[in-house]
Amino acid sequence: MSDKPIINLDRVTKVYGKGDVAITAVKDLTLQIKAGEVVTVMGPSGSGKSTLLNLLGAMDSPTSGIIEVDGRDIGHLPERKLASFRRFSVGFVFQNFYLIPNLDVIDNVIAPVIPYRGRTIDNRVRALQLLKSVGLEDRAYSRVRELSGGQSQRVAIARALINDPKVILADEPTGNLDSENGKAIIDLLMSFTGQGKTVVIVTHDPRIGLAVREYPRGCNIWMQDGVLSDRPTYDQYCWAE
Ligand SMILES: Nc1ncnc2c1ncn2[C@@H]1O[C@H](COP(=O)(O)OP(=O)(O)OP(=O)(O)O)[C@@H](O)[C@H]1O
Ligand SMILES: [Mg+2]
Repeated sequence: MSDKPIINLDRVTKVYGKGDVAITAVKDLTLQIKAGEVVTVMGPSGSGKSTLLNLLGAMDSPTSGIIEVDGRDIGHLPERKLASFRRFSVGFVFQNFYLIPNLDVIDNVIAPVIPYRGRTIDNRVRALQLLKSVGLEDRAYSRVRELSGGQSQRVAIARALINDPKVILADEPTGNLDSENGKAIIDLLMSFTGQGKTVVIVTHDPRIGLAVREYPRGCNIWMQDGVLSDRPTYDQYCWAE
């Protein structure tokens, strides 16, 4: 597994709005995350966690600074290349799952590739493999509205993996789950580091922070007011080199 940073932020700032109403959501933030690491981002509401995740996934662009993910300077890519980056380099998992309720599970998993690859046999085979890896192969042809919260999040994770991204970005992925299902989802997300994927999880749950910290190559970072907070530091809570 490579130790080179797959995520590299150099003095990144994100300001929303202008003048009197401007809000600096992320402030002069410098951070590196290596390939194969799993990182939690914790901190109070409004501290910039989701903004950071959206910047990493090129869902938003920095006001200043450099963001490199998977070898690309995503702050300065033309829109066409950004779309390709979002599609192939990162997979998103959200608190509310964002599944399409009237589609089967398998069609939700292949939804990201339908616009450019269509409903090919290959896609369906890959989707079934992914559903198997999240423990849901027997629900491939269920409607998603028939699933529990934990099952829905598993489908969302399979969907995030359909393009085999190197980086998985999860914003409060357990926020709508009970603690048992939440733990299972975190275990699943952490397991992808075994395939060399890098996982960034925003969470309010200190138990998740603890579980990640104890995982090989797991670490916690904290944010406050748009910056990495001093206590505890990144170094203190990363896996031992
Ligand atoms: N699109 C936006 N337009 C204007 N302000 C925004 C926007 N997105 C976020 N902000 C502001 O930026 C700051 C950071 O927000 P962010 O959503 O990143 O916080 P968070 O740490 O994810 O909070 P939470 O734990 O509540 O999800 C907040 O003050 C928020 O109001
Ligand atoms: Mg948030």
